[in-house]
Amino acid sequence: MARIMVIGAAGQLGVDVCAQAARAGHSLITPSHAELDLAQEDSIVAALERDQPDLVINTAAMHQVERCEADPRQAFAVNTIGVRRLAMQCQRQQAVLIHVSTDYVFDGAKQSPYDETDTPRPLNVYGNSKLAGENAVLAECEQAFVVRVSGLYGHSPCRDKGGMNFVQRMLTLAAERPEIRVVDDEILTPTHTRDIARQLLVLAQSRAYGLVHATAQGQCSWYQFAQHILRAAGYQGQLNKADPGEFPAKVRRPKYCVLDNQVLGRNGLDVMPHWRDGLDAYLRDGPETEHDIRSL
Ligand SMILES: NC(=O)c1ccc[n+]([C@@H]2O[C@H](COP(=O)([O-])OP(=O)(O)OC[C@H]3O[C@@H](n4cnc5c(N)ncnc54)[C@H](OP(=O)(O)O)[C@@H]3O)[C@@H](O)[C@H]2O)c1
Repeated sequence: MARIMVIGAAGQLGVDVCAQAARAGHSLITPSHAELDLAQEDSIVAALERDQPDLVINTAAMHQVERCEADPRQAFAVNTIGVRRLAMQCQRQQAVLIHVSTDYVFDGAKQSPYDETDTPRPLNVYGNSKLAGENAVLAECEQAFVVRVSGLYGHSPCRDKGGMNFVQRMLTLAAERPEIRVVDDEILTPTHTRDIARQLLVLAQSRAYGLVHATAQGQCSWYQFAQHILRAAGYQGQLNKADPGEFPAKVRRPKYCVLDNQVLGRNGLDVMPHWRDGLDAYLRDGPETEHDIRSL
C-alpha cells in the first residue's frame, strides 16, 4: 500500500480520488490549499519533504476560464510554474506524479476524437497555462503521468467554478421550469469523477508514464446529455435546442472536446465506462460518505 498525497483533495475530483484511494487501503496525505499552495514554491517543497509520499496526485488547478483570462499571471503561477516545481520535487524524492490536465489544450477543430499524438492548440489562457504545465511535468519528472480529463461532474461541488455541476443544474431547472433550452453544437464526453478516480489508481499500478487521455467512452452534445438526465428524472416539460448564439461565451473555448483513450487502451488499462453508464451510476448511487469508507 502506498502513501498517497492528493493535492486539491477538497475539490470535485480530489474528494473521489481520496475516497477510492482509502477504499483501496492506501494511506492518504491531504494538504489543504493553505498548507500546500501551488503558487508558493516553498510550501510545495516543505510539504513533500515533510510527508515523503510515494505517489502525488495533483488535481488542483486554477481552471475557471474567465478568471484565468482576467489574471494570466496567477493562472501560469498555479498551472505552470507551481506544477513545474512540484514535478521537480517529485523527481528529487523519486515519488511518482499523476498530474491532471484538460481537453482544453485542443482547439476543437479536428471534429473527431483527439488522441495523445494530436498537436495541442489552446484557445485561451487556461488551456495555454495547462499545456505549459503538462510539458513541464514531462520534462522534469521521469515517473510522471499527465492525465487529460474532460467534462467532469461529481457529487462534490467544483470549487473553482462554484455551485452546481451540469447534472445538478438540469435537475434543479427541471423542478422549476416548463421549458429548458440547451446548446446542441458543443460536443463532449461527460465523465463522472468517481470513474476518473478509479482510472487514476489503475494507472498508478502501471509504468505507462507519459501523456494519457482518460475520459468516459462515447460522445454527446450538451443537449443530448441533458436529454438523458431529464429522461432519468421523469421531466414532464419540454427540452429544446438553444438557438446559435443564445448563450454567448465571454472567452473562446473549443466546441469539440472528445478525447480518445488510446494509450490506456493500448496498455490494457482502460477501465472507463460509457458516459451513459457513468451518469446512471451517479444518479443511482449518491455520494460516498465518510462512513462508507471507514466501514470498509
Ligand atoms: N471541472 C472540469 O470540468 C474539468 C475539465 C477538464 C479538466 N479539469 C481539470 O481537473 C482538475 C480537477 O478539477 P475539479 O473540478 O476537481 O476542480 P475543483 O473542484 O475546483 O478543485 C480544485 C482543488 O484545488 C485546490 N486549489 C486551487 N488552487 C490551488 C493552489 N494554488 N494550490 C493548491 N491547491 C489549490 C482547491 O482548493 P480551494 O477550493 O480551497 O481553493 C480545490 O480543492 C483540474 O486540474 C482541472 O484543470 C476539470
